[in-house]
Amino acid sequence: MIKNYQTALVTGASHGIGPYIVRALAKEGMNLVLAARSKPELEQVAADVRATGVQVLSVPTDVTDRDARSALVNTAERTFGAVDVLVNNAGGDLQREFHRYTAEDVEALIRLNLTGPIELKRLLLPGMLQRKQGYIVNISSMGGRIGFPYTEVYSASKDGRIGFTRVLRTDYRKAGVSSSVIILGSIGGAGTGARTMEEMNLHLSAMDKAFLSPPEAVAQAVLKSIRRDKAEIVIMPGPGRLMRALMDLFPGMGSMMGQMGAPVMKQVVDFRERQRAQGDGRKHGRIL
Ligand SMILES: NC(=O)c1ccc[n+]([C@@H]2O[C@H](COP(=O)([O-])OP(=O)(O)OC[C@H]3O[C@@H](n4cnc5c(N)ncnc54)[C@H](OP(=O)(O)O)[C@@H]3O)[C@@H](O)[C@H]2O)c1
Repeated sequence: MIKNYQTALVTGASHGIGPYIVRALAKEGMNLVLAARSKPELEQVAADVRATGVQVLSVPTDVTDRDARSALVNTAERTFGAVDVLVNNAGGDLQREFHRYTAEDVEALIRLNLTGPIELKRLLLPGMLQRKQGYIVNISSMGGRIGFPYTEVYSASKDGRIGFTRVLRTDYRKAGVSSSVIILGSIGGAGTGARTMEEMNLHLSAMDKAFLSPPEAVAQAVLKSIRRDKAEIVIMPGPGRLMRALMDLFPGMGSMMGQMGAPVMKQVVDFRERQRAQGDGRKHGRIL
């Protein structure tokens, strides 16, 4: 168990990086509340983790929906008495050029990446403050720093998670409730990037692969952030925090790195547009 924490709620627990975070928390003996939209996948992750001996509750939830968020928090608190750790991992992108976005696209993406996580924190905070203990981990992205192509709204919302976490941490740490943000570079082997490459039958060059980190690194960073009460952890091969600082100091550097991925990303956005034109909601529906 980490500190006194007994129960963790993890969003985006059905596939991608989320199950790695779930398994790492389960290894620490924490009871788990799993949230995502896909019920069968969520149940599968829950069954796997339950077999390790911890209690697991899966709550199919769309985190963009206000009533669903309240129901999730109520169910979790009623079942376990308290939620000590919240990991806001659910997130995604449309993989669409910004000039093609509709107003609804913009709002939906901000609800997924920013409003949903902020609201879950707001709902869980009173209980944490009452017990004088709690921890919030937000999964964010280097997207905006790297200037990764076609991620304007995604990057804005992910940078929002960073700002929100910093102030939340400052305001409530003395009251026993702390927060961390984990800032991810590109993750290989699971998650959005890996799934997109597989769907499109694309293969990365050895140089592209050198920029990837494994999903296990994210899970370990979540544990480390809680254990050591870290404000921020950057997940990138090499000196991540230094890279992040350099990109802030020299914004052109991130853009230059992002441009290296531009040809592949153009193929990806064109692929998603073709899917949308064909009305294939199932596949691009996964993206948002
Ligand atoms: N993979 C990377 O390279 C990378 C890089 C930087 C940051 N990140 C961040 O890391 C986190 C996990 O990403 P990932 O790569 O694992 O993505 P992923 O494979 O697409 O998984 C996203 C998770 O979020 C859930 N989710 C999506 N929309 C949801 C909604 N409306 N309500 C509830 N759950 C929802 C998905 O489940 P359902 O579809 O079942 O709802 C899934 O469990 C995200 O916040 C992402 O932005 C990832």
